[in-house]
Amino acid sequence: MSLLLGVNIDHIATLRQARYAMMVESPNAEPSPLQGALDAKEGGADSITLHVRGDRRHIQEVDAFAIREGVDLPLNFEMADTPEMVEMALRLKPEFVCLVPEHRDEISTEGGLDVANLKDGLKDGLGRLQEAGIKISLFVDPDLAQISGAAELGVEMIEVHTGRFANAVGEEQEREIEALAEATTLGLELGLQVNAGHGINYENIAKLLVIEGITELNIGHSIVARALRVGIREAVREMKQLMEGYGK
Ligand code: PXP
Repeated sequence: MSLLLGVNIDHIATLRQARYAMMVESPNAEPSPLQGALDAKEGGADSITLHVRGDRRHIQEVDAFAIREGVDLPLNFEMADTPEMVEMALRLKPEFVCLVPEHRDEISTEGGLDVANLKDGLKDGLGRLQEAGIKISLFVDPDLAQISGAAELGVEMIEVHTGRFANAVGEEQEREIEALAEATTLGLELGLQVNAGHGINYENIAKLLVIEGITELNIGHSIVARALRVGIREAVREMKQLMEGYGK
């Protein structure tokens, strides 16, 4: 099967919120994450990813529901494991939930979930989501204890955090690629679907594609940045082109 692309559209809302503080006061507030998601679909996106944060710094609840209604693509709802977000996910009914850690003072999601330590604490929320038929992914660092912890929790997927790889250069980057490859292999052996995301761009993606067994990449910032020059449709199309031939 070909490698899938989940397009993270939070960054479109970040631009809108620069003008509209933390609330969407006008239905015409621009740019529109819904329109962005529709354009991403036309460009070949396989799913839409969005992350309603506790502080609502970018995507708002109203966007999530508009996209769920208006875009005929699987929805990957990134969220922190809080009672508020579990309730929202149960109403939103996305195909997938990706549980991420969330800290108010971070610029974007910084590290993976500490699944190995949090385990029991995660059971309740994810059990309720799974009962509702939502498939769960855990965003984890490429650390073998975290991957084993994810499998023990009975989730369907992991998303390995590619941020350290994206920030590294030279030999350090080579080591990160090895760590991601080992994490992917272990995830597959344990029966998990393995996705990857964070910091992937048009340049570094080729280096990641040597790793076999990944199902989906989640990419946001670089696609939205490229879209300023060529539009979202074309930016997504270009990324999909770079992903062609994966695993063949
Ligand atoms: N995956 C997860 C879990 C994320 O938190 C993010 C950032 O919102 C991404 C993927 C996409 O990262 P980027 O915007 O750097 O492509």
